[in-house]
Amino acid sequence: MSQSLGGRRILLVIGGGIAAYKALDLIRRLRERGAQVRPLLTAGAQEFVTPLAAAALAGERAHTDLFDRAEEADIGHIKLARDADAVVVAPATANLMARMAQGDASDLASTVLLATTLPILIAPAMNVRMWQHPATQRNLTTLQADGVHVVGPNEGAMAEAEFGPGRLAEPVEIADAVEAMLGAAQQAGGFGFLADRASGKLRERPLAGKHVLVTSGPTHEPIDPVRYIANRSSGRQGHAIAAAAAVAGATVTLISGPVALPDPAGVTVVRVETAREMLAAVEAALPADIAVFAAAVGDWRPEATLGTKIKKDGTAVPPLGLVENPDILATIAGRGERRPTLVVGFAAETDSVLDNARAKLVRKGCDLLVANDVSAEGGVMGGLSNTIHLITRDGAVETWPTLDKDEVGRRLVARFRDLICG
Ligand SMILES: Cc1cc2nc3c(=O)[nH]c(=O)nc-3n(C[C@H](O)[C@H](O)[C@H](O)COP(=O)(O)O)c2cc1C
Repeated sequence: MSQSLGGRRILLVIGGGIAAYKALDLIRRLRERGAQVRPLLTAGAQEFVTPLAAAALAGERAHTDLFDRAEEADIGHIKLARDADAVVVAPATANLMARMAQGDASDLASTVLLATTLPILIAPAMNVRMWQHPATQRNLTTLQADGVHVVGPNEGAMAEAEFGPGRLAEPVEIADAVEAMLGAAQQAGGFGFLADRASGKLRERPLAGKHVLVTSGPTHEPIDPVRYIANRSSGRQGHAIAAAAAVAGATVTLISGPVALPDPAGVTVVRVETAREMLAAVEAALPADIAVFAAAVGDWRPEATLGTKIKKDGTAVPPLGLVENPDILATIAGRGERRPTLVVGFAAETDSVLDNARAKLVRKGCDLLVANDVSAEGGVMGGLSNTIHLITRDGAVETWPTLDKDEVGRRLVARFRDLICG
């Protein structure tokens, strides 16, 4: 295991959720990567896991009480808030998110979270209805606007026999997000209003009054009522851009193909299935100041969609004729009337990434092209991080380090702001 977090000190705040036991595994994953982990358990967390277990795995004392005479003399809450490189909250309960969003300082965890200027990553985990409740989504928007990084929650089967978003991200995903956050914090200097919250600057809302349209996810092109042609796009990048644009104050319309992601807070979401539906939804959402075409739109669709399931009769394979789908990016970029001021295309490429991307920018007539090097993701789309090259109309290329998709979203939105607001 590489020591990718070698020498990094992580304050791990464990909240009182059913997923608290996974925080113990997270301690191991972070330590495997070379990090020192200092655990801090809420009173709720101690109902699920013991400070002793956390301390034994971390090889450090676990902190629990705000009013701890020995602790205040030794390492008080202010020192805990400073004496690390990052704070990770996992699981972040609905209650803890609410306390953070309110600036509550009623226990050790919330006091430290209020007192710290370190980068903070939260990994929310809760019942799907708690997650989707407008109050939690409002708190999420507030926290994101305050510069808090978020990983997950994932979708899947939950306790109480429910299904949906709310599961804690896997410990490995959280450790990856910590790495990405710390890598990004180091390089954040040049990224203006979205720079590291450690600067303590209040965030502006530089896209207030602008309408940002984002497409995201794959399309499903039906063959018959049970089968379709799709691709591996998860929608994470498009959704992250929409979320970052909303945080930057824009009015955001997100037109999404079928994805297993929660709707980003503060965004109007239009759900579609096919490329033709996506084009119609984009047209209906215009005018826009910025249009970002991050969806992986199917290039082709079956020439006919059958109304009943094609039967396997053991004699012949059914012929599957394809026809080309409308080119949404080229259609919108080529408009005379109501063309958005800034049209941004995406290209997922596995080979000759830059040549293919430059050619695509010219062919489609967009202003900026984000080339996504799929080979850097192990040759498969749909991961949590992204390695991108930004190509401008004059052919200049900027290559970004591999970053988590939320961070890519924030940086892209910062760039759009520069391009559109000057
Ligand atoms: C069995 C049980 C499981 C719980 N699981 C969760 C959970 O997964 N997520 C959550 O936000 N709250 C959960 N709660 C509620 C929290 O424990 C409660 O809101 C608590 O006050 C959180 O405290 P903390 O945020 O200080 O850790 C659960 C409660 C119980 C009794």
